[in-house]
Amino acid sequence: MAREAGDVRTEQEARPAKAQMGRDGNKSCFACCFSTPTTSSSSSSSSAIKLLFFIVPLILVSFIVFVSVPRNSTWALIYSLPPSTSAVAAAANSSEKLGAAVHAESSQQVLDLPSGVVKTVDVGGSSGEATLSDSDEVAVNRSASPPLSAVEAVTKFQELNETKGYSSLNTSITDSDSLNITINGTPNNATTSPNETIALPLKHSRQVRTKLDKVEAGLQRARSAIREAKNGSQLQDPDYVPIGPMYWDAKAFHRSYLEMEKQFKVFVYKEGEPPVFHDGPCKSIYSMEGNFIYKLDVDAKFQTKDPQKAHVFYLPFSVAKMVRFVYSRDSRDFSPIRRTVVDYINLVAQKYPYWNRSHGADHFMLACHDWGPEASFSLPYLEKNSIRALCNANTSERFNPVKDVSIPEINLITDKLTGLMGGPSASRRQILAFFAGGVHGPIRPVLLEHWEDKDEDIKVHKYLPRGVNYYDMMRNSKYCICPSGYEVASPRIVEALYNGCVPVLISKSYVAPFSDVLRWKSFSVTVSVDDIPKLKEILMNISTRQYIRMQRRVLQVRRHFEFNSPPKRYDVFHMILHSVWLRRLNVRITDDHGVVAN
Ligand SMILES: *[C@@H]1O[C@H](CO)[C@@H](O)[C@H](O)[C@H]1NC(C)=O
Ligand SMILES: *[C@@H]1O[C@H](CO)[C@@H](O)[C@H](O)[C@H]1NC(C)=O
Ligand SMILES: *[C@@H]1O[C@H](CO)[C@@H](O)[C@H](O)[C@H]1NC(C)=O
Ligand SMILES: *[C@@H]1O[C@H](CO)[C@@H](O)[C@H](O)[C@H]1NC(C)=O
Ligand SMILES: *[C@@H]1O[C@H](CO)[C@@H](O)[C@H](O)[C@H]1NC(C)=O
Ligand SMILES: *[C@@H]1O[C@H](CO)[C@@H](O)[C@H](O)[C@H]1NC(C)=O
Ligand SMILES: *[C@@H]1O[C@H](CO)[C@@H](O)[C@H](O)[C@H]1NC(C)=O
Ligand SMILES: *[C@@H]1O[C@H](CO)[C@@H](O)[C@H](O)[C@H]1NC(C)=O
Ligand SMILES: *[C@@H]1O[C@H](CO)[C@@H](O)[C@H](O)[C@H]1NC(C)=O
Ligand SMILES: *[C@@H]1O[C@H](CO)[C@@H](O)[C@H](O)[C@H]1NC(C)=O
Ligand SMILES: *[C@@H]1O[C@H](CO)[C@@H](O)[C@H](O)[C@H]1NC(C)=O
Repeated sequence: MAREAGDVRTEQEARPAKAQMGRDGNKSCFACCFSTPTTSSSSSSSSAIKLLFFIVPLILVSFIVFVSVPRNSTWALIYSLPPSTSAVAAAANSSEKLGAAVHAESSQQVLDLPSGVVKTVDVGGSSGEATLSDSDEVAVNRSASPPLSAVEAVTKFQELNETKGYSSLNTSITDSDSLNITINGTPNNATTSPNETIALPLKHSRQVRTKLDKVEAGLQRARSAIREAKNGSQLQDPDYVPIGPMYWDAKAFHRSYLEMEKQFKVFVYKEGEPPVFHDGPCKSIYSMEGNFIYKLDVDAKFQTKDPQKAHVFYLPFSVAKMVRFVYSRDSRDFSPIRRTVVDYINLVAQKYPYWNRSHGADHFMLACHDWGPEASFSLPYLEKNSIRALCNANTSERFNPVKDVSIPEINLITDKLTGLMGGPSASRRQILAFFAGGVHGPIRPVLLEHWEDKDEDIKVHKYLPRGVNYYDMMRNSKYCICPSGYEVASPRIVEALYNGCVPVLISKSYVAPFSDVLRWKSFSVTVSVDDIPKLKEILMNISTRQYIRMQRRVLQVRRHFEFNSPPKRYDVFHMILHSVWLRRLNVRITDDHGVVAN
């Protein structure tokens, strides 16, 4: 786990101008990187002007969007759809009689989280200690990841299992309606005590509960709507209608996406100072760390200032920045990073009731750095309960696809993708397969050993020959080979998609980005490490027709990997949010009514 990678790779990163990145400053991730250094007085006025340039178009755009959305568009349609009767009843009942309705819906088992979360909020009393003393099991039980039907989820999971070999997960399929996946393990050096209890002031607690109930009722409506979407007609959408075999369930995804837009709210903890908090790299392969936090701030639609209305709580730290500013270089000592994470969570757990309420299950972190998983091991609840959005989605490093989110690694140079997207049609691609890159990690040496300069059709290089352009090669290739390097994720996957090249994933224990929604098999090829010698045969075996189909799908799904400033619907920012939203749909947070009522 302690790889050289963490140190080496940060060196590639452009040094950020951190001073301007405060939360009250300019919110654009890239504003910092392009402004030339100036004296302090002129810099403040110039950034004010920049802000103006930014805000005026934003207001204009929002106005235009507001005016131009037709009445009969999806937006209006969704709002006017009658919620399902059971959802209405549940909402009505829950606002009067707390708790009862939440547990009343036995038909909604797929997403039902039985006792897992409830356990965490037992307040004092013998019953609370009884459950909590059983503290080896920190993990919250969850249902299958997407709110698709249990059957599909199982098929999906098995498919993942086939291709990725998830032998380390324990799965039990109890009946047609529920799939439980439990990962057992002893918590790391526990910072939580077995006797942990929560003592909220009664009044405060009641208020939280009422709002929490509303939040949960909204989620329940979304679950029903998503379930119904499978049989429903295709929804309209002014921008894009997901359709085709690239999706596990295109209609359910579409409905889920629209539900997210309608209600999803993230609370970003305000505590913490840049550069480690509320900041992150905007360029380099870790760019998602910085861009996510900045985009979340720009796209205020998904943020709430009222934590009681939040569905999820974002822990806004950047692991890449910690490696730079907290970790002492080459020390191999993770404890400063871990301490930073622990201190931060302790701080927000003291100040707010939310971490303790769910034991972290409705909290999420995002990290693209290789050491993201390592940072999350600081606290058992963070690792086992919280949603971890990671580039390094290595199931052998305890990435859990049921509750964690695999996000793509995107090597950004600027905030525009101009010049990065494109490529000719399938028929004009001359090269069968292409790879060029450093020989690191366990897989690449095998690839090079078998294919470097071995075959005209398989262009595998350590270094590109002089005068050969990397992107031109990708654009002229049918297949782009994306082997894992230091860590499972590789920015090549997104580069291949951008260039219309069908990715060939060669990895072990990797969960591909957004595989909760996307059916990677339909637009990529997976080759196991053992099959590397047969690479050419495998690719040659794919018929031209099938190749053309896959390539067309690559062009369709690449919108989900596009980076936009400001974000656009269905792009990578929204897909990350959507995956977090899906994970949140799988848990239900409750307070302990009985004890509070005393
Ligand atoms: C709502 O509550 C009433 C009375 O408590 C009950 O009769 C009714 O069945 C409940 N409805 C649902 C859907 O739970
Ligand atoms: C999770 O499920 C397992 C069995 O599948 C059970 O033994 C365990 O107690 C459950 N944990 C929680 C927290 O409910
Ligand atoms: C996962 O794969 C292993 C080995 O191939 C198999 O024994 C197990 O049943 C599979 N699990 C699921 C859920 O398909
Ligand atoms: C899976 O379950 C079996 C039997 O319940 C147990 O022996 C095994 O250790 C478990 N594996 C993991 C990784 O928890
Ligand atoms: C699976 O979860 C359901 C509730 O979602 C629970 O009733 C059942 O006992 C669990 N089964 C196992 C084997 O954990
Ligand atoms: C666990 O914590 C104890 C003291 O709290 C410490 O002595 C020990 O080294 C820690 N173990 C690990 C594996 O971090
Ligand atoms: C938990 O509570 C029991 C009984 O109240 C006590 O003996 C034990 O020391 C406590 N453990 C911790 C870690 O606080
Ligand atoms: C969807 O359709 C299938 C069969 O076409 C039916 O069995 C199922 O009950 C329907 N589901 C809903 C939620 O209407
Ligand atoms: C949450 O739990 C921690 C540890 O048990 C405790 O120190 C803290 O005061 C609790 N927070 C709140 C708001 O009660
Ligand atoms: C995934 O994690 C395992 C366990 O730590 C490690 O051995 C393996 O090298 C990792 N994969 C990559 C590509 O880094
Ligand atoms: C290629 O296709 C042939 C015929 O369908 C099959 O026998 C062979 O196993 C395939 N080779 C590979 C490497 O998939």
